[in-house]
Amino acid sequence: MTEGRKHSWWQRGVIYHIYPRSFQDTNGDGVGDLRGVTQRLDYLQWLGVDALWLSPFYPSPMADFGYDITDHCNVDPLFGTLENFDELLEEAHRLGLRVIVDYVPNHTSDEHPWFVESRSSRESPKRDWYIWEDPKPDGSPPNNWLSVFGGPAWEWDERTEQYYYHAFHRKQPDLNWRNPEVREAMYGVMRFWLKRGVDGFRVDALRHLVKDEELRDNPPNPDYQEGRPSYETQLPVYTTDRPEVHRIISGMRRVLDGYGADRVMIGELYLPFDRLVLYYGEDGRGVHLPTNMHLITTPWSAPSLAALVSEYEAALPPYGWPNWVLGNHDNPRIATRIGPEKARAAAVLLLTLRGTPTMYYGDEIGMSDGKIPPEHLHDPAGEEAPHLGRDPARTPMQWSDTPNAGFCPPDTRPWLPLSSDHRRRNVAVQRLDPHSILSLYRRLLRLRRSEPALSIGSYEPLEATSSLLAYARSYAERRLLIALNLGDAPTSLPRTLQGRILLSTSPQEEGHTLHPSTRLFPGEALVVAP
Ligand code: NOJ
Repeated sequence: MTEGRKHSWWQRGVIYHIYPRSFQDTNGDGVGDLRGVTQRLDYLQWLGVDALWLSPFYPSPMADFGYDITDHCNVDPLFGTLENFDELLEEAHRLGLRVIVDYVPNHTSDEHPWFVESRSSRESPKRDWYIWEDPKPDGSPPNNWLSVFGGPAWEWDERTEQYYYHAFHRKQPDLNWRNPEVREAMYGVMRFWLKRGVDGFRVDALRHLVKDEELRDNPPNPDYQEGRPSYETQLPVYTTDRPEVHRIISGMRRVLDGYGADRVMIGELYLPFDRLVLYYGEDGRGVHLPTNMHLITTPWSAPSLAALVSEYEAALPPYGWPNWVLGNHDNPRIATRIGPEKARAAAVLLLTLRGTPTMYYGDEIGMSDGKIPPEHLHDPAGEEAPHLGRDPARTPMQWSDTPNAGFCPPDTRPWLPLSSDHRRRNVAVQRLDPHSILSLYRRLLRLRRSEPALSIGSYEPLEATSSLLAYARSYAERRLLIALNLGDAPTSLPRTLQGRILLSTSPQEEGHTLHPSTRLFPGEALVVAP
């Protein structure tokens, strides 16, 4: 993007991901709700983020906690009502916050009226809305395709004697996007929320949308690692990232653009960079932000992260705006992956790299994965093996040191047990402590807002040693230097790094001139203005 050109809010801004079940319960049922989100909007404004993305709150039997939808255009009573959603949206907008909702086009619940109709008979007018196939002559599934949650991706339907395809849970049959009626119905879902005033969508499971028409078997994955989901024993080349998906995305984009140029489409994509960047579409007519999940999966060291950033920067087309995701509801939390100390430098990294950052709720207070006793495990991904369950990253937000951490009333049982550190690690305590990770996030967000070099400036790599990562961000005449210790040993700083400390993980350093002999300890980071 050339200097001076107008940047959209989703390019300058920071996105905060909320898992509504776990954010704030207002009706005492132990499950977070939309009113709860509305109640906490002032916190998000205080923190300094620009937009919130809400994981699904639509009617659902909750086999996959809301990613199995029975009505894409309504609110599950567990979360409230459409009126509650409108109130949330209105209040967010009043406070200057944008609202992004989850859009789940790949599948519905098996209890969705469309699927109920589709499975009722082979002659049903909605039969072809889903992916139905005959068995092989021996009665086995049509091919070797696997479900992300384990086992075959084909489920036998006794009554109509065919298999249906489900990329995820058997209660999440995949829609057939080759069918124009499906496309129209699902574009209609986008229109419904756009008319209500949402600022954009996070499009779920985007790479899964189209499957190979010839139903070819997926090849084995030679790099499969023991302990990983059985889904990874194959390379999903015929079930994901098919070329036809891009036409569908253009269709979605046309719907979106029909409601003004200011709405954003984020595509949930786990792909290597050469495949990922194709989702920007020709001349940027695809998704605005194909999610870059590589901070979640790359080994946490200065050399590998430096290489990651360079590879990404090199792969981006001129019209492709970068983005970075540090964590989400499907993966272990950053504080668990790298430890609470290093999570501080990770905050600085996320908010000073070039590209739109997405933060996951609770990471700003350094929440780590909860330890969930077996009887409280819920997530279907954990059915295959408990360690694959995603519940630990979804424990309730820790607001205060009161019982149940202010998430739900003290006499209520939260849907997932609170993390044991909530008495110490919570918003109320950390708000008052300038050394807390929450205060660090808030200072970072404020700095990012006031420094175009950080939000829209260019990126220049400076140095990567075993522990140190240093780079510059520049906009117009302003050049800022960022140094982070991402390793395990103290490190000295490059001599070229000189100037005034604008931000430090040690707040007492801020405002001072950087001393040439300064060393950074593991987890420490600085932003310096020469
Ligand atoms: C990705 C979502 O983030 C995840 O939580 C869900 O299980 C699958 N898509 C299926 O919708």
